[in-house]
Amino acid sequence: MSRPKTVYVCRDCGYKASRWMGRCPGCDEWNSLEEQRDVHGKAQSWAVQPNAAQAITAIEAAATRRASTGVDEFDRVLGGGVVPGSLVLVGGDPGVGKSTLLLQVSHQWAAQFGTVLYISGEESPQQLKLRAERLNALHPRLLILSETDMGQILAQIRQNLPQFVVVDSIQTVFSAELASAPGSVSQVRDAAASFLALAKSTGTSIVLVGHVTKAGALAGPRVLEHMVDVVCYFEGDPNTQLRILRAVKNRFGSTNEVGIFQMGQGGLAGIPDPSSVFLAGRPRLVPGSVVFPSCEGSRILLVELQALVTPAPFGGPPRRLASGIDYNRMCMLLAVLEKRRGLGLHSHDVYCNVAGGLRIAEPAADLGIALAVASSFRNQAPVEGLVAFGEVGLAGEVRGIARVEARIKEGIRLGFNRFLLPRTESQDLKKLAGEGISLLEAASLEEALELALP
Ligand code: TYD
Ligand code: MG
Repeated sequence: MSRPKTVYVCRDCGYKASRWMGRCPGCDEWNSLEEQRDVHGKAQSWAVQPNAAQAITAIEAAATRRASTGVDEFDRVLGGGVVPGSLVLVGGDPGVGKSTLLLQVSHQWAAQFGTVLYISGEESPQQLKLRAERLNALHPRLLILSETDMGQILAQIRQNLPQFVVVDSIQTVFSAELASAPGSVSQVRDAAASFLALAKSTGTSIVLVGHVTKAGALAGPRVLEHMVDVVCYFEGDPNTQLRILRAVKNRFGSTNEVGIFQMGQGGLAGIPDPSSVFLAGRPRLVPGSVVFPSCEGSRILLVELQALVTPAPFGGPPRRLASGIDYNRMCMLLAVLEKRRGLGLHSHDVYCNVAGGLRIAEPAADLGIALAVASSFRNQAPVEGLVAFGEVGLAGEVRGIARVEARIKEGIRLGFNRFLLPRTESQDLKKLAGEGISLLEAASLEEALELALP
């Protein structure tokens, strides 16, 4: 026998739900669902149908509703906004700006929609107030709670019924019922499971902040990745102002999306034209520097790939260093250059870098990296106005990649006029050429180097 369930009815549109939700699925009104009671004051119940399997074609699809927070780069990473009832994990190194970002998002939410509860286990209400003043993020519907005890936190959530909750950080929350220390794997998992149940049963959107920690006694955000709906990491060198929010898992959208921010006096501000920021300060006509159009989610970002090749000290093994690109991929490209093009890299140190702190995982960067290395090795700058992209195979062939047209267009927008790209039959790029734009198509690394380093 299944237990009878209480009915919740929307006071605005009459929508009936079997559980309480923060937002009515019928009319999108917040906090409008009320438990229905009969004349004797007893909660009414539904004659519950036992849960049964059903044909996938018979299920009515509901469009995912999203609340756009107004922090555009944050919304972009989540796939267009916060989904009601979702559990989002924001990980990152200490000091990168997680608390700043979420305080700004909380303020925007409070100003637009309703009650927000920002729970901090790390800072006092006074500290948070000071920060919010700096960020111009004060609002009466933004509630602050300095608490680490799970029982107290849940009680406060039940009392205030917030629509949006930030837990900063999940590692500080502990349950008195568990014997293990706060921050241990079992505590962190238990706390996250409680927040998950809360989000799903009430429709509250919850963001958990997690510090990335080195392997050890403390549990990092990795142990939670499978439990939450969205995982994003906030990256950036605290010594620079650039910050990148990157989704690595998203049940409601694409995972490649990145949000790009600049940390300033007034907190984090989205960067509307990231390519120009990544290319700012780029040296012109210098050996070892190649511009690559990187595909980040729905956007193309132009970045500078740099290589420095110097003779290795006699007798010692050559040094290889990769920053922003995969080390093994770089080694493979060095081997291809050595074997197919005869570059004597075995006796040289090679350093590769992506300027601006972006990390690139696309094989499309291969051609740019190989070209930067060859350019530095020969001490010859690539032809002017050049953008290069294409995958390089072990035989030295240049292979086709996705979104060629979009990459070329972004390059043209930023004033580049030569495009070194894979030669493939299928694409028709003729319409892009002309007006001083030249498409340098290459089928092999040999051809590519001849075109770019004549
Ligand atoms: P914080 O959000 O506390 O980082 P996290 O929560 O990830 O540990 O941000 C810390 C850094 O951000 C701190 O070094 C100061 C800097 N910062 C600014 O540069 N401008 C600002 O307006 C704020 C609030 C912080
Ligand atoms: Mg913090």
